[in-house]
Amino acid sequence: MIDIVNLSLQFGGKYLYRDVNFKINSGDKISLVGSNGTGKSSLLKMLNGMIDPEKGDIFKRKNIAIGYLPQENVTHKGRTLLDEALAGVPDLKELQEKETEITILLNDPDVDDEEKLGLVEQLGEIHHRLEEIDSYSAEARVEKVLLGLGFMARDFEKLTDHFSGGWQMRIALAKMLIAENDLMMMDEPTNHLDIDSLEWLTGFLKTYKGALLLVSHDRRFVNAVTNKTLEIFNTDFTVFNGNFDHYLKAKAERDERLEHEYDQQQRKMKDIQQFVERFRYKASKAKQVQSRVKMLGKFDKVDLPDFEKSISFRFPEPPKSGEIVYEVKNLSMRFGDNLVLDKIDYLRRWVCSPAEKKVVWHLHFFCSKRQIF
Ligand SMILES: Nc1ncnc2c1ncn2[C@@H]1O[C@H](COP(=O)(O)OP(=O)(O)OP(=O)(O)O)[C@@H](O)[C@H]1O
Ligand SMILES: [Mg+2]
Repeated sequence: MIDIVNLSLQFGGKYLYRDVNFKINSGDKISLVGSNGTGKSSLLKMLNGMIDPEKGDIFKRKNIAIGYLPQENVTHKGRTLLDEALAGVPDLKELQEKETEITILLNDPDVDDEEKLGLVEQLGEIHHRLEEIDSYSAEARVEKVLLGLGFMARDFEKLTDHFSGGWQMRIALAKMLIAENDLMMMDEPTNHLDIDSLEWLTGFLKTYKGALLLVSHDRRFVNAVTNKTLEIFNTDFTVFNGNFDHYLKAKAERDERLEHEYDQQQRKMKDIQQFVERFRYKASKAKQVQSRVKMLGKFDKVDLPDFEKSISFRFPEPPKSGEIVYEVKNLSMRFGDNLVLDKIDYLRRWVCSPAEKKVVWHLHFFCSKRQIF
């Protein structure tokens, strides 16, 4: 489907990749991994023609339909949610508009019979194409995807302008899923999803027949929907077959080997360095010193992998408060027409059940964010 040949990309002299090669075949479900800033998003952008490589080629199969969900900054405006999502069905809007246009002309008494014959023929072709793309069930399919991604039926006629950033990303995701592409590229699609929508998306992608190139930090999700891993590491691409867990195992072995090679190389370099320091001013050793200095310059340095850093937290036990921690009476809150709290009464005592604790935590978090307490 896509063939990446001898590709290099750099920004301001810093190479993200150098002379890399990679193929995406139909049915590949690839997880693209690498530490922050290694160039995952840049690769997707390059494959979508948004940035140019410094060198190399990207060959794409003819007429390939590619969907791309960027990591951020997507906005939709001027259409209802349903219309915007329906725009994801390829050719549907254009075909429907053309159908309306021809129907009007066919009813126009000023259009002569010969011209009408041609229009009827065109209309037949349009109907054939509409059938091909299963246009009559398009709306039902679109609604299913929107509901799966957490939209409510009452949102369908709402203008997209009124959706927040996270929901804008969901609209873009919905449009891409609806489009039935040969290849979908997604940059952190789960960032804006709740658990239910994430479950739904996982199920959807499991049955998706096309190819997938995915960047995601959600290990469970990646494991469920991919069967190959492309790693960007030290400006190079490495492919691992199998899912993400398999990759982590292979990577751990590789990292251990690299660490060992690194230690060995460091030891060797230190020995040489010590020799040079020791005999630098000794005329009888001048030749050996010179050759060792040369050796030092010729080392092909082993780079250490980026080991994941772990941070540990310890929260001190808080001092016990009074019997009543806080009390809420008749608390309401709204954003415009959106009533989010309706006359809440709540008494928070020191001891409470786990379920109660959860409610209190949510309430407290919600209210403290808005500086009520
Ligand atoms: N247009 C640009 N001009 C200059 N530098 C850029 C440009 N785009 C990206 N970079 C730099 O290239 C590097 C790779 O960026 P990119 O966003 O591709 O990384 P990433 O692997 O997607 O990171 P993350 O995991 O944080 O999403 C970063 O150092 C970034 O600052
Ligand atoms: Mg990125």
